[in-house]
Amino acid sequence: MNRLRIIPVDDVVVFPGMPVTLTVDVGDDERVLVVPRHDHVYAGVGVVAEVSERMRVAGRGLAVTLMGAHRATLRGAAADQDGVLRVDYESRPDQNPPPAVTRELEHEYRAVVDEILELRGDDGRLKSFVRSIAGAGALADTAGYSPDLSYSQKLQLLETFDVVERLKLSLQFQRDRLAELQVRKRIRDDVEDGAQKQQREYFLRRQMEAIRKELGETEGSVAEEYRKKIAEAGMPDAVREQAERELDRFERMGDANAESAMIRTYLDWLLAVPWAKRSEDRLDPVHAAGVLDADHEGLEDVKRRITEYLAVRKLRAERGMAENRRSGAILTLIGPPGTGKTSIGESIAKATGRQFVRMSLGGVRDEAEIRGHRRTYIGALPGRLVRALRDAGTMNPVIMLDEVDKIGADWRGDPSAALLEVLDPAQNHSFRDHYLDVEVDLSQVLFVATANVAESIPAALFDRMEVIRFDGYTTEEKVAIARRHLWPRQVEKNGLRLDEVAVADEVLRAVLTDYTREAGVRQLERELGKLLRKTATRIADGSATAPVGIDQAAVRDALGRPKVFHEAAVRTSVPGVATGLAVTGVGGDVLFVEAADMPGKGGLVLTGQLGDVMKESARIALTYVKSHASALGIDEHALDGREVHVHVPAGATPKDGPSAGITMVTAIASLLTGRPVKSTIGMTGEVTLQGRVLPIGGLKQKVLAAHAAGLTEVIVPERNAPDLDDVPVDVREHMRFHIVGSVEEVLMIALGPHPLAVAA
Ligand SMILES: Nc1ncnc2c1ncn2[C@@H]1O[C@H](COP(=O)(O)OP(=O)(O)OP(=O)(O)O)[C@@H](O)[C@H]1O
Ligand SMILES: [Mg+2]
Repeated sequence: MNRLRIIPVDDVVVFPGMPVTLTVDVGDDERVLVVPRHDHVYAGVGVVAEVSERMRVAGRGLAVTLMGAHRATLRGAAADQDGVLRVDYESRPDQNPPPAVTRELEHEYRAVVDEILELRGDDGRLKSFVRSIAGAGALADTAGYSPDLSYSQKLQLLETFDVVERLKLSLQFQRDRLAELQVRKRIRDDVEDGAQKQQREYFLRRQMEAIRKELGETEGSVAEEYRKKIAEAGMPDAVREQAERELDRFERMGDANAESAMIRTYLDWLLAVPWAKRSEDRLDPVHAAGVLDADHEGLEDVKRRITEYLAVRKLRAERGMAENRRSGAILTLIGPPGTGKTSIGESIAKATGRQFVRMSLGGVRDEAEIRGHRRTYIGALPGRLVRALRDAGTMNPVIMLDEVDKIGADWRGDPSAALLEVLDPAQNHSFRDHYLDVEVDLSQVLFVATANVAESIPAALFDRMEVIRFDGYTTEEKVAIARRHLWPRQVEKNGLRLDEVAVADEVLRAVLTDYTREAGVRQLERELGKLLRKTATRIADGSATAPVGIDQAAVRDALGRPKVFHEAAVRTSVPGVATGLAVTGVGGDVLFVEAADMPGKGGLVLTGQLGDVMKESARIALTYVKSHASALGIDEHALDGREVHVHVPAGATPKDGPSAGITMVTAIASLLTGRPVKSTIGMTGEVTLQGRVLPIGGLKQKVLAAHAAGLTEVIVPERNAPDLDDVPVDVREHMRFHIVGSVEEVLMIALGPHPLAVAA
């Protein structure tokens, strides 16, 4: 047992690695035990510290600089003959676990601290100090420097000997601190913004008042004007009374008051709501079908569903049936980018004779965005819905809730909860915006939502939706869309007339297959725009004279080398690569699964940002191939002392889902048999350990992607066979479908002959 002089420090916690200067006398001692003390009570843990410097401070006697070395637990204490208090202690230096155990925690800890320092406006010195600390225990102890942690929190850290526990505790403290700093910053920013705006308004009003006085007008006339507007606005009684109450308050207060500016802003907003205005609703399915047809090529199914939806609304309205929670479900258009969702929404407005307002929900994380801030909040505004009504100018517009799959939720409240209320026919006739604080009737609004993927729509919202799927277009549909819509629009945009430029369908087809790879037509429209811009320039500078015919050479000249390659043939030329089909946020796509083997302990290595489900598929695939080795003609010792590496390339996009199962089996089997996979085949299907092939989702999108990528055969799980009806006929005609129930069949179809067998 060791014994050292005890140095109490009141309400301060000294950690190992921390230097402190104290005005105490330590005699000739080289080392002391520094122990935190609160209200005369000593902590049970202290820090053994080295005396690194002794000095004399003018008027205050002796001082020493101590450097904390390591933790120690206190045992018995006794005063020695000079009356100096010394204690027995047991050293408890940090036992750092292997770095792998704490790596994640350390990483996170550093990230959180960096962010805190960022918010605190650190000039980089503290950051580089924290960066220089090595060792998980020492890193956790850096929290000891934090000015925001309390004495008891620091003591708790000192008393935690286990390094992992300490790092976790420290991380938790720092996280709380970060959250608090973030809230504080936000409030400060909001207050500053609001205050500046109000000050400006105040000065402007003072000036206006002066001008009015010059002109002989008085406050009375401002109030009079409001009174007139309120009387004419056709507000519901409750709203009108509220408006009049505020107006009375305004009159009592006088114009040159900061508060009166706020009241005026409020009255302006109340008057901005088009309380009594609505456009004549046109619920005529025949007319609607006509409008939808004129604006959009193809999409027959979508247009039919929309027409039906309008027909049902019309019938219910005619028969005086109330909106019911299920029947009033909100129309939701789901599909990849550029497939015409937003633009169909506009057409719905046109077809029903309503105004159209688009409200993008992407990135909205705050309930107040939807519902507004209360008026007590500085710089408050109404929410997006009220603003949408103002923009529409009517109470019955079509409001498009764009990107509902991208709303978030955090501590500021859940915007989807507010949306739920808005979309519920049982509640939305009395929607209360926090700022206006009166009931607004949203029941006449026709809401249409859009999203790229269904999975990320909050479940409670999804439950209320009537989903219409946009699966993407076939090549021929895209040609037709280009011919009838994109081309004329871009011709006009570039200052040309339709009779001045001519283009053949084959050329349009070449543009879309060689320069675009998408489910929709947005990129295509951009490329056509580029092409026409070049053409317009040539006509304008006299190097070409209208009419100009655009051929393949002109396309290459304007757009450069083709951007899209049909890579399946190249990729699958070696054994071990199979072509799979997937659905991502941007529609269907082909994806390659690569397998390789290398010396190792017989395990499986997986790379390419695979999700858990996909990793499981790979394991199942390997087990299946191993257990059927002899049937597949694979040497049973082929994997002795080797391991299999499965990779799914295509960059940083995370991939998941079970539908690559059979593709993985095929890649591994191809690798081990040495038989390459046929380059014309794409496949999709989940696989079981017994080798059954299970159905998957999104077949139509996958087949369209296979077709666009130049594949001609697709392997389809038995239970998905009925879904092939959804695939457009012109694609079906060009593809061969293999319907399979077992992995055996998959391999029989997909694996080519053994290269040696061909040579023989
Ligand atoms: N079937 C179609 N007929 C005519 N034009 C179309 C068709 N589909 C898409 N377009 C045109 O393609 C462009 C892109 O469509 P839009 O903006 O509606 O896509 P979106 O589905 O809303 O995409 P995002 O998910 O990225 O918002 C628009 O100019 C639209 O008019
Ligand atoms: Mg859109």
